[in-house]
Amino acid sequence: MEPLVLQYQDIILRDRIPADIPDHRRWLSTETAWLEWDAPWESNNPNFISRYLEHMERQLQEPLPAIRRTLEICHRDGTHIGLVNVYYIDGDRERLAVGIGLRESSYWGKGLGTMAFRLWLAYLFAATGNKGIYCQTWSGNIRMMKLAGKCCFSLWERKKDFRQVKGQPFDALTYVLRREVFWAMHPDLAQTFQQRRA
Ligand SMILES: CC(C)(COP(=O)(O)OP(=O)(O)OC[C@H]1O[C@@H](n2cnc3c(N)ncnc32)[C@H](O)[C@@H]1OP(=O)(O)O)[C@@H](O)C(=O)NCCC(=O)NCCS
Repeated sequence: MEPLVLQYQDIILRDRIPADIPDHRRWLSTETAWLEWDAPWESNNPNFISRYLEHMERQLQEPLPAIRRTLEICHRDGTHIGLVNVYYIDGDRERLAVGIGLRESSYWGKGLGTMAFRLWLAYLFAATGNKGIYCQTWSGNIRMMKLAGKCCFSLWERKKDFRQVKGQPFDALTYVLRREVFWAMHPDLAQTFQQRRA
């Protein structure tokens, strides 16, 4: 199968390559500011990093799935800065959720996360035919809440004080985005991805 490369504004989403692994290692050892924002209530046991990287290396040997579950995020100048992914909330196949991590913290707050998320959502809506896609965060992650708003997600569920971060309670937030809302609000992406399918 041909490797997938998608571009939108200043962002490229592409399949993982072996040269990405050292970046992933660095994002788990020295460039780790993202861990304070992405599920900071999860504690990673010491074996986690090596298992995670070994799993990535094994996946590189496997055939690419027809519908991608993860793509690497690069700036249009080629710098590798993070990844997008998907998962099912509580394993429920009716509730596909998107995730994003710009793991290079010097790239935050420049609109790049919004571009990457919009492109990932366009790809997934076109590839899966899903009518709705979810995303989850917590009430301390203002950048992620704003990003969800900018991509036209609406709040679907708020679990009050469900998360503890640095001893403080925060709400667990789940958002949903309807396909027709997304295409209506992003006509440029609708045109590109609907042409691609035609
Ligand atoms: C969350 C994340 C993907 C957002 O991407 P980003 O490129 O930083 O976001 P954008 O620049 O597109 O948008 C961020 C918004 O937050 C605002 N913002 C930026 N810094 C902020 C800060 N310190 N406090 C509050 N708001 C801030 C920006 O102004 C922008 O809103 P606006 O366009 O309405 O002005 C990225 O910051 C990231 O990966 N963070 C670490 C990991 C993480 O949190 N992942 C999500 C887990 S649920």
